[in-house]
Amino acid sequence: MSVDTRVDLGGMQLRNPVLTASGTFGYGTEFAPFLDLTRLGGFVAKSLTLEPRFGNPPVRIAEAPAGMLNAISLENVGVDAFIQEKLPALPEGVAVVASLFETEIDRYAEVAKRLTGAPKVVGLEVNASCPHVKSGGIEFGQNPAVLRELVAAVRQATDLPLLVKLSPNVTSIAEMARVCEGEGADGLSLINSVQALEVDPETRRPLLSNVLGGLSGPAIRPIALRMVYQASRAVSIPICGMGGIASAEDAVKFLLCGATAVQVGTLNYLEPSLAGEIADGLVVYAERHGFARLADLTGALELPEGK
Ligand SMILES: Cc1cc2nc3c(=O)[nH]c(=O)nc-3n(C[C@H](O)[C@H](O)[C@H](O)COP(=O)(O)O)c2cc1C
Repeated sequence: MSVDTRVDLGGMQLRNPVLTASGTFGYGTEFAPFLDLTRLGGFVAKSLTLEPRFGNPPVRIAEAPAGMLNAISLENVGVDAFIQEKLPALPEGVAVVASLFETEIDRYAEVAKRLTGAPKVVGLEVNASCPHVKSGGIEFGQNPAVLRELVAAVRQATDLPLLVKLSPNVTSIAEMARVCEGEGADGLSLINSVQALEVDPETRRPLLSNVLGGLSGPAIRPIALRMVYQASRAVSIPICGMGGIASAEDAVKFLLCGATAVQVGTLNYLEPSLAGEIADGLVVYAERHGFARLADLTGALELPEGK
């Protein structure tokens, strides 16, 4: 049986549902020696700001049980250098989702404008959820009114397919998902890393210079699955799920819980070719379970009666 691997992620026609997650795959070129990038459904580039950014001072990364903590704080080359230098260096046929982040809503909109029409960019992902960069003391994605304003402004600035990447650091992910759908988002990405703290008992100091960081990796996978499941029941726009994906089976779990596509993040650091292997592994899974299309796995979770 040949399996149809194509998916439509909010208007992005992807050759398969496996992408790599923002911040864990650089600008793509770094991974090209290890993985043919055209084997991926696409990759999400590091979040871009209007001007280049240097991020937090070290220590910015620490180990955690079944994962890691980071507080890189969105170091990036800036949107113009990305368009002029990074995009042309990528092979033809690579689908790039450009991620954007800013500290003010009108600056978010300006980054979105500049990315619109850039070659190879098939869609945008608005990072509304970095857990260690704050504007006015909160993450954009933690306050429904602020999130509404942000999505509306970026929606106006671009006609590209628009994903909004939500924060897991909220009480109701369903409420945030509905806000995005209401303002014209074409899809949701979830989840970003989970706000966390780790301490060195000998020095009695936090491990990260920023004190707080974001926990990612397999440690957060069940939280991410729960949020994908809840958000997918709250909205009808597609969801791109991520959080600790380490195998094709993990990716299948996200699809079953309602995701249309997935992103591989922290595990790229351990195994730079992993996302390609996961794309192949999904086909093997679909054949073994009699699914003609990977798209048919979306939401195919078998629930106990009455749930
Ligand atoms: C070192 C590092 C840097 C990250 N940078 C970004 C970023 O720039 N923008 C963003 O939206 N998410 C960023 N993330 C979050 C990931 O894209 C992803 O949402 C999160 O790590 C959960 O997936 P995972 O457990 O597979 O890594 C970063 C994660 C890590 C570990």
